[in-house]
Amino acid sequence: MSFDTIEYNKRVRRALEHVRNSTTDHYPEIRRFEAEDFTDPARAKLERDRVFGAVPSIACHSSEIAKPNDFVTIRMPRNNIIVVRQKDGSVKSFVNACRHRGSLVEAQPSGRARLFSCPYHRWSYDTDGKLREITKANTFGEVDREKQGLIEIPTEERHGFVWVVDRFGAAIDVAAWLGEEVDRILAGFELDKLLNVKSGAFEYEINWKITQDAFLDAYHIQYAHPNTAAKHVHTNAIAVQDFGRHASSTTARKTIDRWLEEDPGDMDLTPFVTEAYFLMPNSTLLRQPDHFELLTFRPDRENPERSTMEMRVLAPSLEDSGWTEERWNKVWDKNWKILIDVIQQEDIPILSGAQKAMQSDDAGTMLLGHNEYINHVFHRELAKLVATEPKGIKRAEDTSVSATAQPQPVAGG
Ligand code: FES
Ligand SMILES: [Fe+2]
Repeated sequence: MSFDTIEYNKRVRRALEHVRNSTTDHYPEIRRFEAEDFTDPARAKLERDRVFGAVPSIACHSSEIAKPNDFVTIRMPRNNIIVVRQKDGSVKSFVNACRHRGSLVEAQPSGRARLFSCPYHRWSYDTDGKLREITKANTFGEVDREKQGLIEIPTEERHGFVWVVDRFGAAIDVAAWLGEEVDRILAGFELDKLLNVKSGAFEYEINWKITQDAFLDAYHIQYAHPNTAAKHVHTNAIAVQDFGRHASSTTARKTIDRWLEEDPGDMDLTPFVTEAYFLMPNSTLLRQPDHFELLTFRPDRENPERSTMEMRVLAPSLEDSGWTEERWNKVWDKNWKILIDVIQQEDIPILSGAQKAMQSDDAGTMLLGHNEYINHVFHRELAKLVATEPKGIKRAEDTSVSATAQPQPVAGG
């Protein structure tokens, strides 16, 4: 294990102690919050600009764009983007907007493109974003093509994920954002060797923080999921490691109960726990015995009361698994169905209700308790970002048409 085994073992044993004593790790404060944090458009804009426009967040898994010219299109909080694998194997992202008159240059959610060809007047761009062709260029007028390529969004590939800072001209340094410890832990997971075997994006009429909070919370399990998740994991018994910006929580599975009376000694208790790594600002990586799950929450661009949740199951490819194709398909289909069913049938109705509850001017002050530790880390770090004005903001360059360009007679009107 290349991550901190000593800390990890301490955490796992603390989770066991919590089950024995009906306790959990305590955050030092109780936090108060207001309904308008989840409905106010001004607050939502600050989050888009100062969170997603300032720090790296995960756009997709590397395996989704495995080969040169593979692309995915993503609705990020500030920009519609195209993420595309370059010929040299690196990854770039661009705003998905034609620099002629702004049509989407790529309408498909994913694919492989030799070039991006705008459907409106057929301008085309190379997959490195350069403006390649202006149709009927002799009639259009002179254009500085260097300045009229697709607008690039800062992108970095690290630990099997593509990360972006959703703002033209921003700096990106994923290792620095993760910090040394989390960077080392993610490296140890070798997520770049896994495949995105199942994924989906789901749009909800719910603020992104409400949805994300539900997945950072081990307090609701036995109440919201009595016949599903609660059969497998303990409620309100987590051991947390706060990395300062990101955090991990270790939740005891019910199978750990066999060690309630007996001392497990030095035994590796990994099979008896689930570990979650909250990666600020909007992803949680769940480490399961034979795979990982990634949950990503993104605010809508316009409406604070709407967001998208993306789910991914990351697992060894069929070849790497050594399984038969039939088993491989069956296991991941089943896994995916369980994940979706619990979320759609049990969490989402409650969270939609929570969003409606926030639509009351007099909802009153609400609270996060000492036991809701990871939620505290999220809201603490979010508050820091929202209070910080991003530095050195550049504007995507204006169209620069040569001053000497002459209008050309246009044949055919
Ligand atoms: S808007 Fe793309 S070619 Fe005109
Ligand atoms: Fe839940």
